[in-house]
Amino acid sequence: MSTLDGSSHRDAGRPYLRYTPDVEVQQPDEAALTAEILDIMARSNHVAFERHRHAVRDAHAKSHGILTGELVISGGLPAYLQQGIFARPAVYPVVVRLSSAPGDIHSDTIPAPRGMAIKVLGVKGERLLPEDAGGNQDFLLVNIPVLSFGTIQAYRQLVDLLEKNARNPAFLQRALAGAARGIESAAEAIGLTPGATLRGLARDYAHLLGETYHSMAALRFGDHVAKISAAPSSANVRALVGKEVGPVDDGTMRNLVVEHFRTKGAEYQLRAQLCTDLAAMPVEDASVLWPDDLSPHQPIATLRFPPQDAYSPSRRVYGDDVLSFNPWHGIQEHRPLGSIMRVRIAAYERSSARRHMLNAQPRVEPTSIEQIPD
Ligand code: HEM
Repeated sequence: MSTLDGSSHRDAGRPYLRYTPDVEVQQPDEAALTAEILDIMARSNHVAFERHRHAVRDAHAKSHGILTGELVISGGLPAYLQQGIFARPAVYPVVVRLSSAPGDIHSDTIPAPRGMAIKVLGVKGERLLPEDAGGNQDFLLVNIPVLSFGTIQAYRQLVDLLEKNARNPAFLQRALAGAARGIESAAEAIGLTPGATLRGLARDYAHLLGETYHSMAALRFGDHVAKISAAPSSANVRALVGKEVGPVDDGTMRNLVVEHFRTKGAEYQLRAQLCTDLAAMPVEDASVLWPDDLSPHQPIATLRFPPQDAYSPSRRVYGDDVLSFNPWHGIQEHRPLGSIMRVRIAAYERSSARRHMLNAQPRVEPTSIEQIPD
């Protein structure tokens, strides 16, 4: 039975769901679906490898910037937000990789969701995976608040679609973009019925530094359950919110990031949206948008980046070929929740292991920010 906690004064009237293991419910055929998803992703990845003769990630293959900075957790958070690594004021070094979602390297002229993967170095706490000896906490975010294919069953359909269209990415992404806008012929062309499940899968040409990035699925937030997001907060990136860029060519997104950080820094506010009602804010279906009016996104920390060379050759190689971001790199207090998160345990390990093996690279979990090259 889940219990409710309405302890501190600021959340009076807004009782936050208390985390218990039974907020998660095993879905039918999870093991078999996981194996199928992994097989399909491996086949698609092989196609990409043969083309490049270099291994790329099964997802988010193309990077646009590798940033170093810090995560600042200030004092004075309300008690219910003092959870996990946010329990105490602290400043942690971070490394962040900005990316596009497909598992292959496409031109930026093809619309795609963008990723912001954050690695917080040197956190304390009981690790989620015994084999993850590192001291880091990763948060993987995408610039869409929900995952259109938000259950393991739906995700199985998505990877099928991605595999069938691996050789024609422009067609697939444009069809998905059309379908997302409710154009029936576009959806039918790829054998789907347009609807909510497709909403947001394809994005156009928004400036990626003005976007808000979301965990899409839920995670444990100490005593509670939350979705995490990062929103532009310094004036220079707030000015980029909703800004369409163009004309777009193969490398536009990287060029925007490099150009910005050549002379300027940036700040993003990290926020938690706490679950108040498991029926309206489900854990097992990441395609459901958690309504803001049931629970707002509340600030928990600041991500701060100084000006830097965001895509030097050594940064790119380290970020793309050496680093691995993984939602299961972290502590029990931030356990990823729901079937879409459980399937990621094996998916990230498999993708990272194969990538490092094929590129003959060491699998290194950084222990100090000095390990990230300039
Ligand atoms: C909640 C939904 C999800 C979010 C927010 C998310 C986000 C991300 C991000 C930001 C990256 C890039 C990491 C980097 O820069 O290294 C990534 C990579 C990846 N994602 Fe996801 N993802 C989600 C769901 C999934 C699912 C369901 C799967 C597979 C079943 C998956 C498989 C992968 C794989 C294999 C990689 C590459 C790992 C590597 O080679 O290091 N993701 N994801």
